[in-house]
Amino acid sequence: MKAVKVGICGLGTVGSGTFNVLTQNAQDITRRAGREIIIQQVGARRDNPAADTSNTDVTRDIFEVATNPEIDVVVELIGGYDIAKKLVLLAIENGKHVVTANKALIAEHGTEIFAAAEAKGVSVMFEAGIAGGIPIVKALREGLAANKINWLAGIINGTGNFILTEMRDKGRDFADVLKEAQELGYAEADPTFDVEGIDAAHKLTILASIAYGIPLQFENCYCEGISGITQEDVEYAEELGYRIKHLGVSRRSEKGIDLRVHPAMIPEKRSIATIDGVLNAIMVNGDAVGDTLFSGPGAGAGPTASAVVADIIDLARSIDAPAASRVHHLGFKDVDDTQVLPIEEIETAYYLRIPALDKTGVLAKIATILSERGINIEALIQKEPLEKDVKDDGDVVVQVILLTHTIQEKIMNDAIAAIQALEETQGDVTRIRVEHLV
Ligand code: HSE
Repeated sequence: MKAVKVGICGLGTVGSGTFNVLTQNAQDITRRAGREIIIQQVGARRDNPAADTSNTDVTRDIFEVATNPEIDVVVELIGGYDIAKKLVLLAIENGKHVVTANKALIAEHGTEIFAAAEAKGVSVMFEAGIAGGIPIVKALREGLAANKINWLAGIINGTGNFILTEMRDKGRDFADVLKEAQELGYAEADPTFDVEGIDAAHKLTILASIAYGIPLQFENCYCEGISGITQEDVEYAEELGYRIKHLGVSRRSEKGIDLRVHPAMIPEKRSIATIDGVLNAIMVNGDAVGDTLFSGPGAGAGPTASAVVADIIDLARSIDAPAASRVHHLGFKDVDDTQVLPIEEIETAYYLRIPALDKTGVLAKIATILSERGINIEALIQKEPLEKDVKDDGDVVVQVILLTHTIQEKIMNDAIAAIQALEETQGDVTRIRVEHLV
């Protein structure tokens, strides 16, 4: 059978990893694809010593790859928005299939890109964009296609998980761990995408679309980062039998769909709570299958290249088949119009940490505020004050820690505002959502 010729654009961490996997595993890849897969051209602004391209046609003009008549599949690994979008649309216009690891591009411009691809009868594959080496797109679009998906929840940013793990296990400083994640090639070009949850929100947007067949709508994804997580909360969470993870959660109910990324406390007994370091994990609950858990490395050259190359092999296998026989981009032929719920409408349990003056009646006041709003307390701890908690005027500040049962977010917002307004409350109330994942 005729070989499939690919053009790789971008030779950074993932580009060089892809080049190396395609080269080193060429024999097995050919056996799997049923045809040879040849790297016809590489488009990169500069060489990368991690990949030996000395026997490959390398151009400094990535757009040359998108228009190269020899090339069947353009692999977009440059990242970012504008140039990547231009490149992908140009490749599609020239009748090329596209493989990308660019979740930002798919989450924010996927609708336009898929429409262009469908009009041209080509495919855009994006497995590598979500959870690195875990084949979650394939699992949701194909392996779990029989199910009505009820919910999914995932640790879908390797950098963030690496930071939280190192903070918990070694008491390391946030900035120091982030620097190491950058050196290891885990972090985005702009690492605030990792720590502020934007990268996870891109991935969750895509996962929810392929889980429920809803349009891509990054703009409706609630996003909260991990930069506000303190060592104190990490320790209190452990004492209560929970782990703090940066979680992407999407749940379908009669009211609509949750689409939210935020720090969350997970019972330590749930397997997903033990997923540490750069590993990612996604739980998917389907009506027929029940709970499933997918885990693996979520970032880095090898794992991401594994997903990129799997997509190339998939394309190579089906390249001669009619477009209608390929899996639809979002896994559904038609999109559903179920609305994404505003964050105020979601329902979950909460952890609250309230710095309060150690005075008679404070706990009673807090309990009254909660009970007046129908918020049921599950656990309550008042921590012994430390030396630092004794103020100059002799007043003592104690940390009141609460776990609540499930309640609507807007009711909790109102309760937090009322607690915050108490004269005994000293500083901000910390709120972390608690996810039992059932
Ligand atoms: N910066 C991303 C992460 C890379 O840390 O998960 C993989 O998408």
